[in-house]
Amino acid sequence: MSHEHTSATPTEHQVRGQFTTKIGFALAAVGSAVGLGNIWKFPYIMGESGGAAFILVYLICIALVGIPVLLAEFVIGRHGQTSAVGSFRKIAPGKPWWLNGLLGIVAAFFILSFYSAVAGWVLRYAVLGVTHGYEGVGADQFLGFIDSIGGPVIFQFVVMFLTGAIIFAGIEKGVERVATWMMPVLVVLLLLVVLRALTLPGAGAGVAFMFKPDFSKIDGGVILVALGHAFFTLSIGMGAMITYASYVGKKQNLGTTALTVGAMDTGIAILAGLAIFPAVFAFGMEPDAGPGLLFIMLPELFAQMPLGRAVGIAFFTLVFIAALTSTISILEPVVTYLVDDLNIGRHVATAVSAGIIYVIGIPACLSAHSGGLLGEVKIPFLGGGLSIFDFLDTMSSKFMLPIGGLITCLFIAIAWNRKAASQEVVGEGGNPGHPLVSLWYYLTIVVAPLGVLAVLIYGIRELLNKG
Ligand code: TRP
Repeated sequence: MSHEHTSATPTEHQVRGQFTTKIGFALAAVGSAVGLGNIWKFPYIMGESGGAAFILVYLICIALVGIPVLLAEFVIGRHGQTSAVGSFRKIAPGKPWWLNGLLGIVAAFFILSFYSAVAGWVLRYAVLGVTHGYEGVGADQFLGFIDSIGGPVIFQFVVMFLTGAIIFAGIEKGVERVATWMMPVLVVLLLLVVLRALTLPGAGAGVAFMFKPDFSKIDGGVILVALGHAFFTLSIGMGAMITYASYVGKKQNLGTTALTVGAMDTGIAILAGLAIFPAVFAFGMEPDAGPGLLFIMLPELFAQMPLGRAVGIAFFTLVFIAALTSTISILEPVVTYLVDDLNIGRHVATAVSAGIIYVIGIPACLSAHSGGLLGEVKIPFLGGGLSIFDFLDTMSSKFMLPIGGLITCLFIAIAWNRKAASQEVVGEGGNPGHPLVSLWYYLTIVVAPLGVLAVLIYGIRELLNKG
């Protein structure tokens, strides 16, 4: 988005930028949604949670909860024209709804601290292609890298530095421009990798894994993973999309944008799965390898492709840029809050928040695998124990985001009126009486909140039983 000013003094913070082109906002939203959640997280949690049956539950969560909540956030942000905290406060003055915005700020710290670690691994793998290539790079190399003490923390620093620098300089718009051509190229590269994977002997078992559901794999814990991931992958439940939408012009139809974001995000996740699982089965490996899955499988594929080294370097570089358009969207709400609500200058706000997140991120980075320096440290959680890395991920994806989304739904149901919210969906001059707008409204005030509540209760009970 374009900030007319590069530095904000307390008195000029009211001067807010706006997306200048119609497509700018859609690109920023897609850039936020598409990232490591699609390429790294979706395949590995799908592999751990039983494949096709998980995908089905996930798609239901996206359709009935994810897209409605995404649109709710858009609507709140554009109406409020300020930070998430400020937007809740503006629409419902004197009521405590703004605390939901604050919960989102805390969630941003949790998410970015481990997300930046993984984005660092991606950068490492892009560099690895340049210096060494992908020949013979497998699980041992991956674990050797993430268990080492210096490397991952340095790459994570680069990630946080770049994220902060982009926001500091106010050039998010430049990044959006990059995203314009990045997305299509990323899709083409993904298709190339999918093609290679699908033509491996034995690839069919991987396709069956993704599309032949085995419902015995579904339990409360798996449903909670699917719901949490629907929030994570669409960047909802913490106010990121509220913040982005606060910079949109009044005429844009937000309903169309929400559907576009949902479709692109889901499509790219499925493609990432199709790149990885045929190879997993063709090479006789286990689908539940965990967070290392992407980094272990893809080099094997690149090593077996014509021009594989170049394809691999390009692929990891693009995934890294996709990760950056997401990290920006996690940090931006924090900065917007500090600037809009606490009158802190934009430069100071950016430097301080990025710095604190990096510091929290170091223990996250060193605990990503049991062999790491802090890998054996356990935080007690729901009767079990989690590593620092898993704790940050679990707390944010499975609890903070769904609870934030639930409160957002209740906000639409209770604190606002249907007429104003519906008009905001279609924008100035749009038709709020469209049946899809009514569908959105009922999904948001009835289906999504009840669904989230049921999954949370059912999931927590299951976790307690297992623990
Ligand atoms: N959706 C992004 C991804 O899939 C991650 C992300 C960006 C995010 N902004 C967010 C997750 C806000 C939760 C909340 O990689």
